[in-house]
Amino acid sequence: MKYIGNKTRLISFIEDCMKEKQINYQNQEVVDLFSGSGSVSEFFLKNNCKVYSCDNMNYAIAEQYRKLYFRKEPTFEEIEKEVQSNKLDDVLKYLNSLSGEKGYFYDNYCEEGSYQRRYFTVSNAMKIDAIREKIENWKTLLPVEKYQFLLGILMNEADFVSNTAGTYGAYLKIWRSMALKELTMQKPEFIQTGEIELFTDDVIHFTEKMKKVDIVYLDPPYNTRQYAANFHVLESIVVYDKQELNGKTGLREYSKQRSNFSIKANVEKEFEKLILQIKASWIVMSYSTEGILEREKIEEILAKKGIVTTFDKNYRRFKTNAWTDKNTNLKELLFICECN
Ligand SMILES: C[S@@+](CC[C@H](N)C(=O)[O-])C[C@H]1O[C@@H](n2cnc3c(N)ncnc32)[C@H](O)[C@@H]1O
Repeated sequence: MKYIGNKTRLISFIEDCMKEKQINYQNQEVVDLFSGSGSVSEFFLKNNCKVYSCDNMNYAIAEQYRKLYFRKEPTFEEIEKEVQSNKLDDVLKYLNSLSGEKGYFYDNYCEEGSYQRRYFTVSNAMKIDAIREKIENWKTLLPVEKYQFLLGILMNEADFVSNTAGTYGAYLKIWRSMALKELTMQKPEFIQTGEIELFTDDVIHFTEKMKKVDIVYLDPPYNTRQYAANFHVLESIVVYDKQELNGKTGLREYSKQRSNFSIKANVEKEFEKLILQIKASWIVMSYSTEGILEREKIEEILAKKGIVTTFDKNYRRFKTNAWTDKNTNLKELLFICECN
């Protein structure tokens, strides 16, 4: 999925910094807080770690069920009667062959619907409806991991053909070429090492009850844009609560998922609370020099847990990104704290 703030292109920077601090990141127990698209969890899995991943958005956790949860292709005996096979390929083929339906996604997210929003073509919106409804019918038959895995595939493929510039703050007036492609459920690749547990939770609540681990990596949002508002369509696909949506862009109600880490007046207090709750040998944290919390403040709070080293790296975001910043002196920060 296209995800703002994902660390895919910064993994080698994070790895180099951990090497410099002589942190062992192989075969360790690791918590990934604010895990988003799961790119850092993926790195730790590839290093055979046991990972506990937490994000408060349902679409983020579904994405991680898609690409990180299973060590090999799952089979689907539970729906074998209907699909006439238990193989993943056949389940995906079955879902891809469903005829489109005029349901919630048609009504809310395409131009023929009641609100004429152009997030998806009419045929892709109808396909999302048909596939989402079928997965929901299977919910009572499938274990939660397989249900989430299929949702993750649908969400990811819908994102691929969405008519947006990267976030769902608005849809585009003109169709981008990818949006005109037909949505197709596709098999992910499977990572064969490590193990992961996934939690849809607020990090403050999650860390209240956490046991001590070797490494906690955290990647909080650094600006005032709320993920819940910017990825609301993906959340609707995964949650499927058929909310009545608001305004021209069809925003969901998201008060329970509003992040204090993106609210200037609350971020410092929330950050301190989180850091003090963490139990780990090492805390590794990504942030940006344009973040709403200052570098010195972060260092001061982390110092309450141990010895802090700060690394930085010049970093330019993609130009096409809807959140592009014109500030070319932008630096990516990595704080490493060796806890007492
Ligand atoms: C910068 S992104 C993380 C990117 C991730 N490391 C990756 O590589 O894709 C920040 C994430 O924090 C999540 N988030 C924000 N506030 C949160 C909170 N209070 N509890 C849990 N997750 C939160 C957002 O949903 C978003 O996925």
